[in-house]
Amino acid sequence: MSEPDPSPSDTPAFVALMPAAELAPNAVKPFQLAGYSILLCRVGDEFFALENRCSHTGALLTRGRLRGDCIVCPVHGARFQLRDGKHLSPPASSGLVSFAVRVAAGQIEVLPVPIDPPGGKPDPRAFVM
Ligand code: FES
Repeated sequence: MSEPDPSPSDTPAFVALMPAAELAPNAVKPFQLAGYSILLCRVGDEFFALENRCSHTGALLTRGRLRGDCIVCPVHGARFQLRDGKHLSPPASSGLVSFAVRVAAGQIEVLPVPIDPPGGKPDPRAFVM
C-alpha cells in the first residue's frame, strides 16, 4: 500500500525574495524566511542561499566577503563554499545549511527547506587547531 500524495499545502514551494536585478553582482542580502536566517548571495549571474550564521561561533555572515565561489566569515575567517555551504577552512569544523535558489520571472526565489546534508558531503580532511 502506498502513502497518499501530500496535499498541495504540505508541499514546500519556492518563495520570491526580491528582483534579481536589485541584487548587484558580488553582493549579499539577508532575509528571514520560514524561521531561517538566510543570506542570499550573488556572484556574477549565479545566486546562492546559505544560512546566515557561521558554524564556528554563530557570527552573522552578512558582512562576510565573497571570494570567488566562497564566503569568508568576517569574525575569524572561516571559508564556506557558496554552492553547498561546505566548510573549506578552520576554525569552522562544519558546513552551513544551504537552500535551493532559482530565478523565475525576474524574481530570486528560495525553497525554504534546507538541502541535506548541511555543508554538502562529509569532508574527510581533519583540521588541526
Ligand atoms: S565566527 Fe565565523 S570563523 Fe569564527
